[in-house]
Amino acid sequence: MKDIKVNISVLCANFAKLSEEVKRCEDAGANMIHVDVMDGHFVPVITVGPMIVEAIRPLTRLPIEAHLMIENPSNHIDLFIEAGADIISLHAECYGERRASCREYGQFPKEVDSIDSALFQKDIHKIKDKGKKVFCVLNPGTPLCLEPVLDDLDGVLIMSVNPGFAKQKFMPEVLAKVKALRAVYSGDISIDGGINEKTAPLAVEAGVNILSAASYFFGAEDPAQVVRYLKGLSGA
Ligand code: DX5
Ligand code: ZN
Repeated sequence: MKDIKVNISVLCANFAKLSEEVKRCEDAGANMIHVDVMDGHFVPVITVGPMIVEAIRPLTRLPIEAHLMIENPSNHIDLFIEAGADIISLHAECYGERRASCREYGQFPKEVDSIDSALFQKDIHKIKDKGKKVFCVLNPGTPLCLEPVLDDLDGVLIMSVNPGFAKQKFMPEVLAKVKALRAVYSGDISIDGGINEKTAPLAVEAGVNILSAASYFFGAEDPAQVVRYLKGLSGA
């Protein structure tokens, strides 16, 4: 049984008061800080880039995860590492042939059925050679297709919403994917999207050990209580 870690996405933070917001995460007992990087191409909207990781870096000792929802992530890995990210999370959908439904510009969500593992390995090693961790992210519609690279990953991040926005509804159909992955994988399994007091226990029961959340934390009256509750869910 693994300890539950709480990974707070600053997507719902007040960016004008970033240092207070990061302190709020730390004081509440969060284990990691999650930065949602969106480019308006891989997902419909634009958020932030390496400058925000760089701004957060001196504010906390917590590990910072850069969740890269961007096209051509390979071109940006070094910049995020230089900015201070400890974990780089790469979408499988950037490493395989896209389904016909999402090949065109502006078609979302991006989905694949398989990945080019040699291409993916290159980026895994680029990250590991710099002493950083790499997670692979799967969109809800992308099946488990990581077998050839699974042993090289530090973790897998299962999206429980189609990426692009905070405050979306949790998709329970991804729980089967978590269960199937946990049956063959002992590394970290993280989940991202729609996590709250009702959905978190389902994710943990399915085998998740890292809970990522934005609106549940930043919308709470008592964020420390949210973190205590999440950490208290017993692992599978
Ligand atoms: C969605 C992002 C998530 C998002 C989670 O595209 O990757 O990290 O910020 O927000 P909540 O917790 O509100 O669903
Ligand atoms: Zn995210």
